[in-house]
Amino acid sequence: MSIQAVRGTKDIFGDEMLKWHRAEEVFREVALAFNYREFRTPIFEQTELFKRGVGQDTDIVGKEMYTFEDRGGDSLTLRPEMTAPIVRACVEHSLLHHNPIQRLWYAGPQFRYDRPQKGRYRQFHQFGAECIGSPHPEADAEIILLAHEALERYGVRSFSLEINSLGTADVRSTYRAALIAYLEEHKDQLSEDSQKRMHANPLRVLDSKDERDKSVIQNAPLLRDYLDAPSRDHLHAVLALLDNAGVVYTVNPYLVRGLDYYNHVVFEFTTDALGTQNAIGGGGRYDPLFSMLGGGEQPAVGFSIGIERMILLHDADHAETSAEQQPRGVYISAIGDEARLPVQSIALQLRRSGVHVVTDLLRRSVKAQMKDANRENVAFTIMIGEAELAAKTAVIKDMKTGEQVTVEQTNIGSVVLAHE
Ligand code: HAM
Repeated sequence: MSIQAVRGTKDIFGDEMLKWHRAEEVFREVALAFNYREFRTPIFEQTELFKRGVGQDTDIVGKEMYTFEDRGGDSLTLRPEMTAPIVRACVEHSLLHHNPIQRLWYAGPQFRYDRPQKGRYRQFHQFGAECIGSPHPEADAEIILLAHEALERYGVRSFSLEINSLGTADVRSTYRAALIAYLEEHKDQLSEDSQKRMHANPLRVLDSKDERDKSVIQNAPLLRDYLDAPSRDHLHAVLALLDNAGVVYTVNPYLVRGLDYYNHVVFEFTTDALGTQNAIGGGGRYDPLFSMLGGGEQPAVGFSIGIERMILLHDADHAETSAEQQPRGVYISAIGDEARLPVQSIALQLRRSGVHVVTDLLRRSVKAQMKDANRENVAFTIMIGEAELAAKTAVIKDMKTGEQVTVEQTNIGSVVLAHE
């Protein structure tokens, strides 16, 4: 039996790859426009990093991590997210001593042992940015605008932005007690999952998609009503900055996020177009994380977008205009054995002058080479046979119009580049 890719992982190739390249280009462009610098961390980290950073009681740490012991006996984990690794790296390299604001972006694979379905994978990819060092609402707004700009520039349309405030740790602990008391009263109406969660992580119950939980949640006390004045002011200042930028959002008092490091403003980009996987991206302020990881007090805010979900949403939004690739480059066809060697030197010269060139590697007939040129979707085919070799010329065929002209071999590059 042949071996297949691991469940929940995907090969990316062919036309799909073009969508990824475009996504990566957009991220790079938008990150640069906001003056964020790319940061790459290793794919695995000490398991302790995520246990402490993401939180013992979260789904990610509790049931989704790819954790293994290496040959030296260390417990390592394939990264399920990037924020804890970025913070680890900032502390390790004392980056904030060099510049009190670190603006960093990343894109790369993440690993979670989730139940695979459309838009949910075990290896998936995130693009994200972290703004470290500012406690002020301008930093939250900058991060939200960066994420928003990336989604817009990539061309996704059917998404909304939801925002909430989780307040401070004190606010949450008062609220938590009130919420647990309420959930206790309605315990019998809750799903089994929520009954299990209600003590360890009661805020996550608010996020439940289970119909039984939804009716209980409807009348639950809201964190919003427990917020202190500084938390409320922070949220309103961020909202004012978004209004000022013309960004549309809704305040969702039930939005809590699934990771433990957040406080104050949290947000999510959601869509109805991808079935149950409705979050395309999310993030928020995570001031507690630096001290959770032994890095002292340090305010920070960031987001990550799921690249697969963003691409799926783009496909759903643009179903009518399937991305057809424009013809590009040239196919150089050798007519007869004599032409094979010179064709390779012409190909090399053209490639050096920036032309995208295909030559035949299967020693096919002229007819088969023409068929191949069509399949390769080139703009021109260049034919070189005995007569052309003797005259140092080539026949150039425009694949769209079918028009053919004979040119000096030394002029092929300029003719082709003029049409690119
Ligand atoms: P997250 O909400 O866990 O946040 O993930 C962000 C995005 O990654 C999700 O909205 C979703 O698009 C994508 N994603 C998550 N799990 C999967 C999966 N199994 N398959 C496909 N896509 C998935 C974080 O990871 C935080 N680190 C965000 C952040 C950055 N907060 C502050 N800075």
